[in-house]
Amino acid sequence: MIVIRGATTIPCDTKEEIRKAVSELLEQIESRNSLKRDEVVSLVFSSTSDIHSYYPAKAAREAGFLSCSLFSAQEPDIDGGLPLCIRCMLFVEKNLTPSHVYLRGAKLLRKDLSGKFNIAIDGPAGSGKSTVAKRLAKDYNILYLDTGAMYRACALEVLEKGVDPNDEAAIVDLMRDVKLDVVYENGVQKTMLDGRDVSEEIRKNPVSMASSTVSKHASVRMHLVEKQREIAGRMSCVLDGRDIGTFVLPDADFKFFLTASPDVRARRRYDELKAKGAEVDFGKLREEILCRDEQDMNRAIAPLKQAEDAVLIDTSDMTVDEVVETIKRSMQEKI
Ligand code: DC
Repeated sequence: MIVIRGATTIPCDTKEEIRKAVSELLEQIESRNSLKRDEVVSLVFSSTSDIHSYYPAKAAREAGFLSCSLFSAQEPDIDGGLPLCIRCMLFVEKNLTPSHVYLRGAKLLRKDLSGKFNIAIDGPAGSGKSTVAKRLAKDYNILYLDTGAMYRACALEVLEKGVDPNDEAAIVDLMRDVKLDVVYENGVQKTMLDGRDVSEEIRKNPVSMASSTVSKHASVRMHLVEKQREIAGRMSCVLDGRDIGTFVLPDADFKFFLTASPDVRARRRYDELKAKGAEVDFGKLREEILCRDEQDMNRAIAPLKQAEDAVLIDTSDMTVDEVVETIKRSMQEKI
């Protein structure tokens, strides 16, 4: 006896969609495993708690699985779980190496079976990119690459060495002598300068504006973009930044552009810095964010811009959960 696993998703909770998705899933499992119906001893389904309209087992019976025992159960409501998902397990009387089948949005559940993919998230400061990117990385068990942290590390080095952030030649010289690395500890990105963990320091306010300034320079960008492409080429990851969808990975599988009103973005940054015990002036912070937007949008090379094929999400009035959910649904629709 062997067990074959499968999963799929439905676009909305209706009887018709459930029947269509179940029959498609079972057909694929049969054909990829060269199964005959009478070799299936038992078929067990589970569906996420947002599915109420029909029993997947009943849909399987209607799809022609008449002689095996069938069963459906509902899964617990798991935070961050894939929505509208139907999973199945086929117990089969046959000796073969099973080909498990993950269709539609459920492809994301088994990256090992469905191949590598990249998610690009761009947008201005405070639009919610990093919070959302971290959540997606955790839910899909893929890497999160914070590209802004690389520009920030470069800016920190520039500030510490007293170099002018506008002086491209001096920055190139400086960066030649320093080792900028991105490493991961328990899935969390750490930004290292010559082996020193600078992950906290690069979040400080003076570094923000300087990072925008150093990121204008072509030589700085190409140096960092090369590293970003190398990491994204090796593994599935979600990258956030300003130019991921337009320049770093123009062929990214999924692209999103997050935005929010200046007030909301400034408020988020203010709360973030306050929570870390920093002294901040809201008005000044808002000014700085607008100034940074202006500089990031108007630089000559790879400016902050929505890629034509990116999905635009205004996060001003959305919770993090709502943004994550919107992104996941959009990804499912695209698959
Ligand atoms: O996302 P962040 O605030 O950490 O980014 C800091 C600065 O780095 C941002 O103002 C512009 C620059 N940046 C960039 O030019 N390209 C990226 N892909 C990411 C960040």
